[in-house]
Order: sequence, then structure tokens, then C-alpha cells
Amino acid sequence: MEKKLEQILTQDTFTKEDLVRMLAADEQERTLLFARAAQIKEQYVGKKVFYRGLIEFSNLCGKNCFYCGIRAGNASTHRYEVTPEEVLEAAKYAYDNKFGSIVIQAGERSDKKFVSRISELLQQIREMSKGELGITLSLGEQSEETYREWFEHGAHRYLLRIEVSNPELYGRYHPNDKKHDYQQRIDCLHTLRKVGYQVGTGVMIGLPFQSLEDMADDLMFFRDFDIDMVGMGPYIEHESTPLYQFKDELLSKTDRFYLSLKMVAILRIMMKDINIAATTAMQAIDPMGREKAIKVGANIIMPNLTPTSYREDYLLYEDKPCTDEDAEECKRCLEARIHMAGGQIGYGEWGDSKHFEKRRKS
Ligand code: 5AD
Ligand code: SF4
Ligand code: FES
Repeated sequence: MEKKLEQILTQDTFTKEDLVRMLAADEQERTLLFARAAQIKEQYVGKKVFYRGLIEFSNLCGKNCFYCGIRAGNASTHRYEVTPEEVLEAAKYAYDNKFGSIVIQAGERSDKKFVSRISELLQQIREMSKGELGITLSLGEQSEETYREWFEHGAHRYLLRIEVSNPELYGRYHPNDKKHDYQQRIDCLHTLRKVGYQVGTGVMIGLPFQSLEDMADDLMFFRDFDIDMVGMGPYIEHESTPLYQFKDELLSKTDRFYLSLKMVAILRIMMKDINIAATTAMQAIDPMGREKAIKVGANIIMPNLTPTSYREDYLLYEDKPCTDEDAEECKRCLEARIHMAGGQIGYGEWGDSKHFEKRRKS
């Protein structure tokens, strides 16, 4: 007989069947799941939510992921790179407002000029903030040398989403070439850890052809890699991408949203002391999406610091929020949202994942 959800929620380890059962929870059951996740969050990470001020540095990208609005093949995207002065200004805003950390994110490029530009920025940010501002990079797959160079210049966390942990599905969402190789992405995650970064990964939820079993595999992937940080959110179709042709096969946006919330809640129950982000994509579907994610387990939020004039051009998916607002508006808005969700903002702290600290000490 199938196990009852109540029974699964009393366990500390889970089989794949348990995970699928939790992902399939109906409306009544999911309330139990969310309550359990909230309780574990309170116990292990507390009420604090940490800020990572997000600078979307550039939408130039050499890759062609089938789901992404800024893929190289999308000729209708106007390409930009934020000037060094503007990046520094954004970082200074984060520093002055005690955000604790920033994230520099961009499309993937690995030419020498790009690599050294990032190194220079890292150096300048370190000087400006006297080394006090934590710096996360989200700049895709790079060589070990590049990862080392950026680490030495002061970056200490790196986000590289695996996007989907099933290699066969990975092949359906990406061109079949050397630039989009599943194994290479896995190798990058290992290299990042070897170099010394706190490593974050993540997936999209509700992609076409993706089953609950695949999502359970994603959760087990995070666990088996013993990841420090996770950022995941619903897949949202974008009209100018190849994957858009499967839009009629998708779950409703609401279903994708609730699946994403369940993924956050289950992951919090499985990996009690990691950092989990309340991602912007959750808010693209539900206006209260990020608050809801915080309530069921997320403890990281990324206020957007990209200068407003560029925001419209960093459209990875449709209905991306915060494209008209500036840093000040997003800061105020998020403060209110976090308080509404019963959280406290960890001002001026790096907010490293407790999981990482523990592993480092052991
Ligand atoms: N829907 C949701 N998330 C997306 N991303 C890219 N395209 C989409 C989309 N259509 C996510 C990917 C990538 C991150 C920067 O944005 O997971 O890693
Ligand atoms: Fe480029 Fe990242 Fe978009 Fe892929 S997901 S096309 S690597 S920006
Ligand atoms: Fe940007 Fe609310 S967080 S407007």
C-alpha cells in the first residue's frame, strides 16, 4: 500500500518513491509538507533572510540553450554590457545598504578580455568594500584557470545550475555539441569545489517532457553532490526560443509554481542547513511567489541592482518582474515582503551556508 504523506514526513531520509510521493501531494497534503518544511527552517536556519544584490552584468552569450531568452540565436535581443563605473556604483549601493553580498551574473563568454574584465571588477569591488562585501559569480562554464583567477581576485561563491539532472533531458534542452555538454557541466561543478568556492547549483521546474521522477532525481542530485546552495524556479516559456513550440504540453503556470514551492520545501527537509534562494522566476508567476518560498524554506533573496536602463534586455523568460523598478524600489519592496513572510533581513552579514561552514571544519 502506498505510504501516507504524514508518515513520510516523520522520516529523515527518503527514497525516490518518497520524494515522488511528496511532489505529488494534493492541496491538503501540501499544507502538511509546507508546515514541516517551515518548522525545519526555523529550527536549523532561523528567520534570517540574506541579501545577494544582483548585477546582471551583460546579456551577451555564446550559447544557445533552447529555453533562454538571451540565447545567442535570438537576434531580437538588444545586447549590452554594464560599464565598470556602473558595476562599481551598484556594488557600492549594496555595500552602503549593508546587503552583505552581491552576485555578478551574465551570459556565458570565456574570451580573454571578458575574463580579465571580471578580474578587474572583482579587484575594484574588493578595494571599495575593504573586502567586506561577499561576491558570488554566476558566469557559466569556464576553465579551471579562469575559476582560479576569479577566486584569487576575491569571488568566493559560484552558481552554476545543472538545469536538469537527467542527461537525456539535458540533451533535449540544449544543442548537441561540445559547448552544451552535460558531463562538462558536472566537471565544472567539481572544479569549482576543488578551487575552494562555495558551490551552488539548481534546476528549472516544469520543463516540457519532465516528470515527477526527474524532479526527484534533481533533489537526489543536490543531496549526492552535497551542495551548499540551491537556486531553482519554474520554467517559464519565452516566445523567441525553440522550446516555445512545446508550450501546449506544459503544466499550467500555477501547477509549475506549486511544484517549485514543493521542491523548495522538500529540499529544506532533506538538506536542513543549506542556503536556498527564493528565485525571481517564482514571482513571475505569483505576485507573492518569493514570500511564499521564504515561508516554506528559502533563506536567500536577490534584490536586483542592475541599472534600470538595462533590465528590459535581460529577459531570460516572459513576465520577469522588477524591470521598471530601480535598486531603491526593489530594496524597499523586498523589505516589506520579507517582513510579511515573518523573516528578518541579515543586514551586513555574508550569510554563508551553515552547511559549507560545517564541511570546511570537518
Ligand atoms: N525559464 C526559467 N528560468 C530560465 N533560465 C533561463 N531561461 C529560463 C526560462 N525560460 C534560468 C536558467 C539559468 C538562469 C540564469 O536562468 O536556469 O541558469
Ligand atoms: Fe546563455 Fe545562460 Fe541563457 Fe544558456 S541559460 S543561453 S548559457 S544566458
Ligand atoms: Fe523589485 Fe519588488 S523586488 S519591485
